[in-house]
Amino acid sequence: MKSVPGRAVLTTLASITLASALGAPLVAAPPVLAASSGGGEVARGRYLVGIMGCSDCHTPMKMGPNGPEPDRSRFLSGHPQGMKLGAPPKGGAGWAWSGAATNTAFHGPWGTTYAINLTSDRETGLGGWTEENFVKALKSGKHLGVGRPILPPMPWPSTAQATEDDLRAVFAYLRTVPPIRNLAPEYQPPAPSPAQAASQSPSR
Ligand code: HEC
Repeated sequence: MKSVPGRAVLTTLASITLASALGAPLVAAPPVLAASSGGGEVARGRYLVGIMGCSDCHTPMKMGPNGPEPDRSRFLSGHPQGMKLGAPPKGGAGWAWSGAATNTAFHGPWGTTYAINLTSDRETGLGGWTEENFVKALKSGKHLGVGRPILPPMPWPSTAQATEDDLRAVFAYLRTVPPIRNLAPEYQPPAPSPAQAASQSPSR
C-alpha cells in the first residue's frame, strides 16, 4: 500500500477534534481514514470525509478500553434507531447544549437533532438521494437543498465552502459505504417557552 505523506497528520487532527468534543482521552481514528483504496473521485471523497470529520457525529460512539470510540460495525449509520434517551440534562449557568453518549443526538435551543444515516442503504440512508439533493443540501443548509433549515451541530456553513466537485466526490464515496439499515429519528423542535405557550393560549 502506498503511504501518503501528511495523511497521518490529518488523521491525528481528526481524532483530536473528536476527543476534544467529548472531553475524552485520544482515541484511534477509524481505520478507513488512514488509507485510501480505489481511484479518482471515490478516493478523493473518502479522503474528504476523513478530514471533514463526518464520522465524528454520523458514526455512533461506544465505550472502549480508552474511552469512547467509533463503533466500526455501525460506520456512518447515524443515530441508532430505537435507542432510549431520557430527558436532556438541564445544564448549569453558561451551558447551552448537550450531546448523547453516542455523539449522534444533540439537544439545544434549536430542539433535538439526530445525525442521519449516510450509508448507501436505499430506504434509510443516502441510497435514495440524488447527487443534486446532496450537493444542494450541503451548499445551502436546507434539507435536501429545498426544505427546512439544517440545524446544529451539522457543520453546513463549512461544507457550503467546499467546491461542488468535492461534494460530488463525497457523495460518490458515501455511495460505496456498505448499507446499514437504520432510520435516525425525526428532528424535534424545541418545546415552546412558558411565555410563548401563554401567548398562544385562547383562555388568556
Ligand atoms: C458535529 C456533528 C456533525 C458533523 C461533524 C457532521 N454532521 Fe451531518 N448532521 C449532523 C446532524 C445533527 C444532522 C441532523 C441535522 C438536522 O436534523 O437539522 C446532520 C445532517 C446531515 C445531512 C442531512 C441534510 C439534510 O438535507 O437534511 C447530511 C447529508 C449530512 N449531515 C452529511 C454530513 C457530511 C457529509 C459530513 C462531513 C462533511 C457531516 N454531515 C458532518 C451532525 C454532524
